[in-house]
Amino acid sequence: MSDTVKIVRTVSDLRKVTAKWRGRGHTIGLIPTMGALHSGHLSLVRLAKKKVDRAVVSIFVNPTQFAVNEDLSRYPRDEAGDLKKLAGADADLVWAPSVEEMYPEGHSTGIRAGSAAKDLEGVFRPQHFDGVATVCAKLFNQVTPDIAIFGEKDFQQLTVLRQMVRDLDMSLKLIGAPTKRDTDGLALSSRNAYLSLSERKVAPSLYAVISALAEDAANGADMLTTIANAKRKLTTAGFTKIDYVEIRDAETLEPGSTASGRPLRVLAACWLGKTRLIDNVAV
Ligand code: PAF
Repeated sequence: MSDTVKIVRTVSDLRKVTAKWRGRGHTIGLIPTMGALHSGHLSLVRLAKKKVDRAVVSIFVNPTQFAVNEDLSRYPRDEAGDLKKLAGADADLVWAPSVEEMYPEGHSTGIRAGSAAKDLEGVFRPQHFDGVATVCAKLFNQVTPDIAIFGEKDFQQLTVLRQMVRDLDMSLKLIGAPTKRDTDGLALSSRNAYLSLSERKVAPSLYAVISALAEDAANGADMLTTIANAKRKLTTAGFTKIDYVEIRDAETLEPGSTASGRPLRVLAACWLGKTRLIDNVAV
């Protein structure tokens, strides 16, 4: 393992490295990130290294997936810290383009995300998944990976991207990795850095409440009643606003029912002051 990791910032430099690897018959995995890396991201790198010869981590805070009122300008950035962590996790290459490299003057083509994007986050962040799908399609074309690994923490994102890969006949394989959590259950997220000490104490209740909801649903409880109970518990715990708590079909994200016999997922988004947290668990 090396104590530094190579970083490239232009598509042409990236292609030189990947062409060399391809020439040697190496397989490539991509872990797309927006930086401010935590141990959840590093576990994705380690997973990639078990599956392919070379792990590329992209670090790009993608402006097109943020609405004007969102946190683009304060999104945490720590490139030096990220590079150190990635060297420790044995990443082979960091792909860190500037905004101008990713979206040069005149860039005007984009992906319209599919049906999995329309509800849940799609209601509260209307252009978000078009931005995510477009940048991921570009990352896939730039890096040409055999696999790309995403955390299940952003479960709807993973579903939207699976749909894109399938619908547009992209040849890579997407892999979803289980959410990494702190010891108290809080899903690891770069945005946890926004939480005050008192908000951080409340935050793990989100996982506790949706886990209990998933268990109730699995035991056949009435969905509307258990969802209403879950929302009440979140408010009592100290969440200041609830965007949604829903039980959805785990593959399509259409409204789910236990009678369908299909896999279901509980998904939730709620606020602690100025910080919006999302989480999800399997039923
Ligand atoms: O999950 C993220 O960090 C981002 O949405 C992604 C996939 C890197 C695209 O910008």
